[in-house]
Amino acid sequence: MTETEQSITIVKNGPYIVRGSVPLSVQSIGVNDEGEAVKWVESRQYPLQGVYSLCRCGRSKKHPFCDGSHAQSGFDGTETAERQPIVELSKTYDGPDIYMTDAKCFCALARFCDPHGGVWNQVKMSDDPEIREVFLQEVWDCPAGRLVAWDKQTGRPIEPHFKPSIVLIEDPKMKCSGPIWVRGGIPVIGADGFVYEIRNRVTLCRCGASSNKPFCDAKHLTIRFKAT
Ligand code: FES
Repeated sequence: MTETEQSITIVKNGPYIVRGSVPLSVQSIGVNDEGEAVKWVESRQYPLQGVYSLCRCGRSKKHPFCDGSHAQSGFDGTETAERQPIVELSKTYDGPDIYMTDAKCFCALARFCDPHGGVWNQVKMSDDPEIREVFLQEVWDCPAGRLVAWDKQTGRPIEPHFKPSIVLIEDPKMKCSGPIWVRGGIPVIGADGFVYEIRNRVTLCRCGASSNKPFCDAKHLTIRFKAT
């Protein structure tokens, strides 16, 4: 792997090494008057760096970057996530010409799927153009890629276009910091060299508490993680 190829490599009990000049920014989960998650709000763009290491243990004093705290704290970063393709871990929800797959184990609790009756109901009525538009946007806003919409005719996923990029999620309503949102199909390579399924949307744990490492399983909400 050269330094110009984009990739994220996991260091055993250590950080994520990001290679290939991947843009890095911070985005917050924006809510409406009812407190529902409805939009992504960009708050910061970091200067572009060729290679950088992102904290995975949650203890760095130089967030989002690694400062070596994992070594002092004895961080156990063992990768525990299942390694089969996401569709094999998903339940299917049927609709007229679209169906949706849902892999709960990847949920980062960003909550974009809940407004307007929820995507599980919307998919059943997705032949209505207005409902279809809302449904697809809510599925696409799922940072973890837990939810994927599929075109029944082509058998292909209906995905938003993302340039390869990394977003650090903040969740002001829940008063905590969220995971690392990896977008645009950047390969994630385990500490043992295993290449995880390449997906358009993935969330990686940066609080250190996930039971589904390297992926986020929403424990950052339980521990009220703050990347400060
Ligand atoms: S960042 Fe979500 S579980 Fe760690």
